[in-house]
Amino acid sequence: MNVMSCDKKPVPPEIKKLFVSYETVHKLVKQLSVKILASGFDPDVIVAIGSGGFIPARILKTFINRPIFAVGISYYGIDNKHREHPTKIQWIDEVQQALRGKNILLIDEVDDTRATLSYCTQELLKYNPKEIAVLILHNKLKEKDADFPVEIQKYFPAREIPDIWIKYPWDAIDIDQQCKEEAAQMKKSKELEEK
Ligand code: G4P
Ligand code: MG
Repeated sequence: MNVMSCDKKPVPPEIKKLFVSYETVHKLVKQLSVKILASGFDPDVIVAIGSGGFIPARILKTFINRPIFAVGISYYGIDNKHREHPTKIQWIDEVQQALRGKNILLIDEVDDTRATLSYCTQELLKYNPKEIAVLILHNKLKEKDADFPVEIQKYFPAREIPDIWIKYPWDAIDIDQQCKEEAAQMKKSKELEEK
């Protein structure tokens, strides 16, 4: 698998939860769009993995204007416990044929255990696309429970981070507080980088 270079800014070890703002998500998606186009990949469609991939996919459309198909896959149930395996909440069904022979840009927010991404790419390969490239905001550097199928050769994480919990802006009850927390963490990271 061809992993594109990404932001390896260190996360200070005292940070156990990483706060991320909408502004940062926007910037990470923009960086990904530049890299994927520079790689020569010419996407026909975007596939968003919901729900975490929905907002990144819409931002991506600002930079790469292609139709977005949405799939809903959940690994955590409403009790916040892992299900036995990733489960389809919604699938593409009637537009499956639209994927045959096409370049698919698959986007999600986080590569954690890789179970969802592995499952989703395997399912999409059943429609015989030309190629699937995977875009991710954050890849957690950890041992993964599943691998990508060998067909996946383009993998673009915007940021690689340790195995910590990410607080995405769409989960924030208080978005002002979220932005403050992110700013404080960025200051710490910058200090660490300058040391
Ligand atoms: P992966 O294949 O992308 O590695 O993901 P995995 O199946 O291991 O787990 C995916 C679920 O865990 C997703 O929720 C994802 O949002 C959530 N998740 C994992 N790490 C983090 C994190 O650090 N922060 C947040 N906010 N979420 C995380 P899901 O139930 O499958 O669906 P959804 O939340 O996308 O709707
Ligand atoms: Mg997700």
